[in-house]
Amino acid sequence: MKIRRKLGGVCGSDVVVSWRLFFWFVVLFVFSFVLFSTMFVFRGKFRPVVRSMRSFSTARVVLDDAAATLSPAVSIREAVKLPEQTLVFLKYPPSLRLFTKDDLICVFSSDSSKKLRKKEKPEAVDIDKFGGQIVRCPETPPGYTISLAISRWTIDDHLAAGPIHQWDWLVYDAVIDHDNSTVVFVKGLNLKAGKIADVARYECVYGWDFAKHNRLIRSDVISAAQEIVRCRTPLTVLNGPKSAHGPVKVSVRIKGGTGMLPSIAQPDRIIRPPRRKPFEMCVCTMTRNAAAVLREWVMYHAGIGVQRWFIYDNNSDDDIIAEIKDLERRGYNISRHFWPWIKTQEAGFSNCAIRARNDCDWIAFIDVDEFYYIRSGETLTNIIRNYTASAEIGEIRTPCHSFGPSGLRNRPRGGVTEGYTCRVVLPERHKSILRPESMNATLINVVHHFHLKDGFTFADVDKEVMVINHYKYQVWDVFKEKFYRRVATYVADWQNDENVGSRDRAPGLGTRPVEPPDWPERFCEVNDTGLRDQVLEKFMDIKVQRLIWEKDDEMGSRTYNRMT
Ligand SMILES: *[C@@H]1O[C@H](CO)[C@@H](O)[C@H](O)[C@H]1NC(C)=O
Ligand SMILES: *[C@@H]1O[C@H](CO)[C@@H](O)[C@H](O)[C@H]1NC(C)=O
Ligand SMILES: *[C@@H]1O[C@H](CO)[C@@H](O)[C@H](O)[C@H]1NC(C)=O
Ligand SMILES: *[C@@H]1O[C@H](CO)[C@@H](O)[C@H](O)[C@H]1NC(C)=O
Ligand SMILES: *[C@@H]1O[C@H](CO)[C@@H](O)[C@H](O)[C@H]1NC(C)=O
Ligand SMILES: *[C@@H]1O[C@H](CO)[C@@H](O)[C@H](O)[C@H]1NC(C)=O
Repeated sequence: MKIRRKLGGVCGSDVVVSWRLFFWFVVLFVFSFVLFSTMFVFRGKFRPVVRSMRSFSTARVVLDDAAATLSPAVSIREAVKLPEQTLVFLKYPPSLRLFTKDDLICVFSSDSSKKLRKKEKPEAVDIDKFGGQIVRCPETPPGYTISLAISRWTIDDHLAAGPIHQWDWLVYDAVIDHDNSTVVFVKGLNLKAGKIADVARYECVYGWDFAKHNRLIRSDVISAAQEIVRCRTPLTVLNGPKSAHGPVKVSVRIKGGTGMLPSIAQPDRIIRPPRRKPFEMCVCTMTRNAAAVLREWVMYHAGIGVQRWFIYDNNSDDDIIAEIKDLERRGYNISRHFWPWIKTQEAGFSNCAIRARNDCDWIAFIDVDEFYYIRSGETLTNIIRNYTASAEIGEIRTPCHSFGPSGLRNRPRGGVTEGYTCRVVLPERHKSILRPESMNATLINVVHHFHLKDGFTFADVDKEVMVINHYKYQVWDVFKEKFYRRVATYVADWQNDENVGSRDRAPGLGTRPVEPPDWPERFCEVNDTGLRDQVLEKFMDIKVQRLIWEKDDEMGSRTYNRMT
C-alpha cells in the first residue's frame, strides 16, 4: 500500500508534472522555432547583416537589414595600394549604416587565374570625412586585385573591385580654405623642401567622373610647394559641391607632361563663418600607436592651458580610439583624423592648420613625447600673451631639451614626465606655436615650422621661461619602435646610411636596431627634475597618491617607487 500510494503519489504528481512539462515543451518549441527561423532568415536572405556603429535601436537594425537586402547598394569606390596595406573606399547610400571590421573580408584575386584567391581579415575600418568607410586591408600581393566580401555571405560572392591607385602617384586629400581656394594634397610631384614651384607648370582639374573627359572643369594653380597645390575653386564647385553626379573630385595635371594624376580627393569645406574663436590654445600632432602615452600628454597639457587636440592618426593598431573616446568622456575636446599616407608629416600639419584655424588663436605642433615645461608654473596662454604684444608675431619658438633613458630599463609607471630626469645639456632645435592667420599661402612647413606671410615674424622664447621636454631617448623598447618609423618626407630615414651624423639621428647608434649595452645611461649629461617636481606637486591626486593620468591597475609599488 505504502508503495502503491507512494507510486500513486508519484504517478499522481507525475500527471501534474507532465502538464507542466508539456507547457514548457511548447514554450521551448515555439522559442526554438522563432530562434532558428530568425537565424535562417539572417543567414540566408538578409546578407549584409550590418552591425550598428552609431547607437541605433535593435528594432531599427532589423528594419535596416531588410532594407539592405532590397538594395545591395554598397560598392567599392576605389582602392589605394600602400606599401604595408591596401585602403578600400566604400560607397554607401546615405541611409545605410556601416560595417564593422568583423563583417568584412578582404579578397585578393589573381589577375592570371580567376580561381586563385586569398582571403584575409581587414586590420580596421575607418570612417572618412563624408561618413563613407575606409577598410584597411593587408598589402595586396603583386599580380592581384582586391575586393571585399561580407563575412556572412555563404557563397564566394564579393563586391566588384573598383579602380586601384598607387599611393605615390595620387591626389589624396583636398580642403576648401578660408579664401575659397582649394588646398590639394598631392603625392608624386616630388617638389623640393621649402621651395616654391612654378605654378605655370600645373593645372587643377575638377570633375565628377574623371573617366569622362568632357565634363571636367579646369582652373588655375595659385601656389605649389612641397606636396600642396592651391587651386582657384571654380564657382560651380563652390556653389554646389554636391551635384546630382555625386561628390566632386579634384586632381592636378602636369602641363605638357605625364598627364593628370589619379585622385581620391573630394574637397570639403571645413571653414565656418568668422566668429570669435572658441579656443585660445590648440595642439596638432601626428602619431601612431600612442594609446599608452596619450592620457598623460593630454591631461598634462590641459593643466597648463591647452583646450583642443587634433590627433592625426597614422595607421594605429592599438587602442587609440578607445583612449580618445575615454578622454572625450572626461571632457577633453580631442578629435582623431585618419591620416594613413606615407611620409606626409608636413602635409598633415598643413591639413591640421587649416582645420584648426577656425577655432584656435594659437596652434602648437608637437609630438606626443614632447611636453611644454614652464618654470614659473604659469599657463601657456600667459606666456604666449607675454610674447605676442606685437601683432607682427606669427610664431613662437620654444627650444627643446632631449631627455635620455635616465637609468631606467622599463617604462616608468607615473609617465614620462615623472620618470625621465636626465638629459643632454644643449637644447636641440625648437618647436613652433603658430598664429594660423600668419601662415603663408603655400603652407610650406619643414620640421614643424611654417613659412609666414610677409609682415609676420617669430619670437624666440627664453629657455629660462619655457622649454619643451622632449622624451626622445626613452627605454629601448619604446625608442626602437619610434625610430623604426621615420615620418617626415623631408627628413632622412635613420636606417639609411645617407645623412649619418645629422641631428635627426640618434648619435652613435649606427643603422642597426640593436640595443647598446649602456643604453640606459646614455644621453645623460645633467639631472633635470624641474618638470618632474612640478608634476608631482600639481598633478598628484592626494587621496590615492597617484598622478591623475595613472590608471587604477597600475597602483602596485607606486609609493615605494616615489620614495627611492
Ligand atoms: C566663398 O564662397 C561663398 C559661396 O560660394 C561666398 O558666399 C563667399 O563670399 C566666398 N568667400 C570669399 C572670401 O570669396
Ligand atoms: C570641440 O571643438 C569643436 C571645434 O573645434 C566643436 O565643434 C565641438 O563642439 C567641441 N566639442 C565639445 C565636446 O566641446
Ligand atoms: C605612417 O605609417 C607608415 C607605416 O605604417 C609609414 O610608412 C609612414 O611614413 C607614416 N607616415 C606618417 C606621416 O607618419
Ligand atoms: C615676458 O617676456 C619677457 C621677455 O620678452 C621676459 O623677460 C619675462 O620674464 C616674461 N614674463 C613672463 C611672466 O613670462
Ligand atoms: C609667402 O612666402 C613667399 C616666400 O617664401 C613670399 O614671396 C610670399 O610673398 C609670401 N606670401 C605672402 C602672402 O606673404
Ligand atoms: C644625477 O643624480 C644622480 C643622483 O642623484 C647622480 O648619481 C648622477 O651622477 C647625476 N648625474 C649627472 C649627469 O649629474
